[in-house]
This record gives sequence, C-alpha cells and structure tokens, in this order.
Amino acid sequence: MDRLQSSARLMIVSDLDHTMVDHHDPENSSLFRFNALWEAHYRQDSLLVFSTGRSPTLYKQLRKEKPMITPDIAIMSVGTEITYGKSMVPDDGWVQFLNQKWNKDIVIEETSKFPELKRQAETEQRPHKVSFYVEKEKAKHVTEALSKVLAGRGLDVKIIYSGGIDLDVLPKGAGKGQALAYLLKKFETEGKKPTNTLVCGDSGNDAELFSIPGVYGVMVSNAQEELLQWHAENAKDNPKILHASERCASGIIQAIGHFKLGRNLSPRDVTDIENDVENLSPGVEIVNFSLLIEKWRRAEVENSEMFIAGVKATSLPSGVFIHPSGADYIMKDYVNVLRKVYGDKQGKQFRTLVDNVLATQLDSDTWLIKFDKWELSGEERQGCVVTAVLGKKDSDWFTWMHVHETWLEHSGQGEWLL
Ligand code: GLC
Ligand code: MG
Repeated sequence: MDRLQSSARLMIVSDLDHTMVDHHDPENSSLFRFNALWEAHYRQDSLLVFSTGRSPTLYKQLRKEKPMITPDIAIMSVGTEITYGKSMVPDDGWVQFLNQKWNKDIVIEETSKFPELKRQAETEQRPHKVSFYVEKEKAKHVTEALSKVLAGRGLDVKIIYSGGIDLDVLPKGAGKGQALAYLLKKFETEGKKPTNTLVCGDSGNDAELFSIPGVYGVMVSNAQEELLQWHAENAKDNPKILHASERCASGIIQAIGHFKLGRNLSPRDVTDIENDVENLSPGVEIVNFSLLIEKWRRAEVENSEMFIAGVKATSLPSGVFIHPSGADYIMKDYVNVLRKVYGDKQGKQFRTLVDNVLATQLDSDTWLIKFDKWELSGEERQGCVVTAVLGKKDSDWFTWMHVHETWLEHSGQGEWLL
C-alpha cells in the first residue's frame, strides 16, 4: 500500500453483508450516503478496508450486485486472504504466515466425521478456510468436540460461528482480527500507522475486530445477537465501542460523528450545496457535481436557465470536453446538452456514483483529478474513467478547465451524455 505518503487520517475496516451493505434496502440509500461521504471527505488521505467472510468469488459477485466503491484493501474469506488495490494484488507474506501448523486435508478428514456439519459451496472452501453450515443448537457442542480432535492431530485452528448458521475452520493465526493486527503492524513498520481506526461489524466473525487494541468500533443497530452477547461478555466497559442506533452504513456514519473522527455529513444529506463552501475540496466538488447532475436528471431540482448558467459559470468557456466516444467539444457549447436531459430519469431508479476520486495538486490553484464515474439505472450500469483539470483562481469555486472521459470495461454500449 504505497498510495499514501504518510499515516492515514482514518482507516475504516468494515464488514460487508449487513454492515456496509444493507440487504433489506433495495434503494441502497445508506450505502450511497456513505460512498458520497467517503469520496468527498476521506478518499484522498484515508484508507478504506473491506473485511468479509466471502471468498473472492462471492465478494466480486456482491460488488456487481451492489453500488460499492473500491476499497484500498480487501480482506476476504474471514481474514485468510488479503489483497491490495483495484487489481487485488495478494499479500503473499500473509499466506506464508497462515501455513504454520495448518493442514487442510486433516481438517477435511476430521470434519467429515461430524454428520451435523453440512459443507458449504465449493467457492467458499479456500486454502486456509473450510466452511460448513450447522444448526444453532448444535454449534457449541460441535465446536468443542472438533477443537479437541484437531488439536490432537497437531493443528492450531480457530473455529468461528457466525450468522447463526456458518461455521468456519481457519488456522489459529487467521480471522478478521488477526488480519487487521497484521496490517496495523505492517503500517507501523513503515511509519504509517493510521491516526484513527474504526472497525464496523454485525456478526460473530466480526467480534475479533473489536478486540484489537486502540481501535474504535461500531456494531450497527441491526447487529446479530451473537455479536451483542460477545460484547456484553468481553467488552462491555470499552467506551470506544458503540452500538449504533442506525442500520448498516448509516450506523458507520453515526460512529464517525460519535467518536469525532472527522466530517460525518454526507454530501447526499446536504440540501443547500451552494452555501456549503467552507469544506470545498476537489473531492467535494466532484461528488457535488455528480449529485447535481443526478438531481437534474431525476427532476429533483427546478428546471431553470439559472442552473445551466451556474454550470457554465463553473466551466472554462474555451475548455475542452472529450466524450468517451472520442468526440471533443468546447465546454461552453457542451453544457447546452443539459437542457435536453432534464427529468429524463424522473421516477426511475437512476443514481450517479463516483469512485476512487484522487487529486494531484499541480500548482497553487490547479488540480489534476482522476476518478471513475458510474451511472446506475436499476440493474444496469455504465461507467467511464474521468481525468479532469480543475482551477480555483480568484474565487471560492472550482472551474472545470478540461475533462477527458474514456469507457470503463464493459461500458460503451448505451447512450452517454455527460
Ligand atoms: C460468508 C462466507 C461463508 C462464511 C460466512 C461466515 O458468508 O461466504 O463461507 O462461512 O461468511 O464467516
Ligand atoms: Mg456481516
């Protein structure tokens, strides 16, 4: 992880299912709120880590199903696989470490003697994770018996029960907590220990995250009984752990505010963008602009020439806009296309999403910005990579000076306007 030159201001380590992602909200509103907050105020100097029980296969599937931004680090398969960046480069050092006193064949042989254990899908069986389903009533007994048997065979394992149904057998040194401890140690060696770390979870396999020294933690309002019980027994008096009153990603935002870890007002919750200049940064500008276009197309702002004039006023008249098709336009002409699309997504499930917004300051008043921009219409999505030059001369506002868009993979079939 060498994106950041110094310590991350905030590192969020979040579980996905029922924590970052709310499977009971078809609109994904809390996820969209979190994403906008992160890209506007944290992406530039903080780290986002997803820590999930899912294998890489199911993790990638979830990323297709839900509007998720890209984490800096993905910890998958209950802390047994760590990858970095968008291209998911594996941490080989972690793999080496997990090989100690671990033998998957022995685990498979011994677990097969337990008729209560029902093997999970093949995708969820990983080099350092063997997973089953087991009924709640039998979990405790099976866990105890299995621990004894495996210890007798010379293995050092950890057995985790989660979600009232899943049972994972892992090397002792694995798990979400150990993977986080490993990362924190690695950052410390590099002299880049995050200033603050916030862990977020809802179920049994997340419990370990909350016992890492020094971290803040949030159990989302919808946390499972097994996690709440663990908390009551092991961490009741820890003031750094919050049981949020809000669900999933909204609970995470709530915790950022509760522990005063930074800004906790999502641009999606700001009604009057124009009067919110004090926190203006390139990230905020990119997020706000994409939200403005979303509102315009959903007809959630008034259809007025003032709006068009406003967009014109924040773009350099002679600036160039290069459409992903390759065609180029002069900015002041291109803005007129806005008139045609007012309300074209009214009443539809249309959302814009920006991801990986990173800015490089070129001189005192010019920034080079790169981000991924998605348009989501129900199940369908289209995206492009945007490179833009933004200036901030003699005004409180940014001026868009140059925009260059290129299709992201699998995009480019549908219409694309802005
Ligand atoms: C995810 C994984 C599953 C695991 C569970 C609990 O659902 O797909 O294999 O047992 O998390 O950790
Ligand atoms: Mg979960």
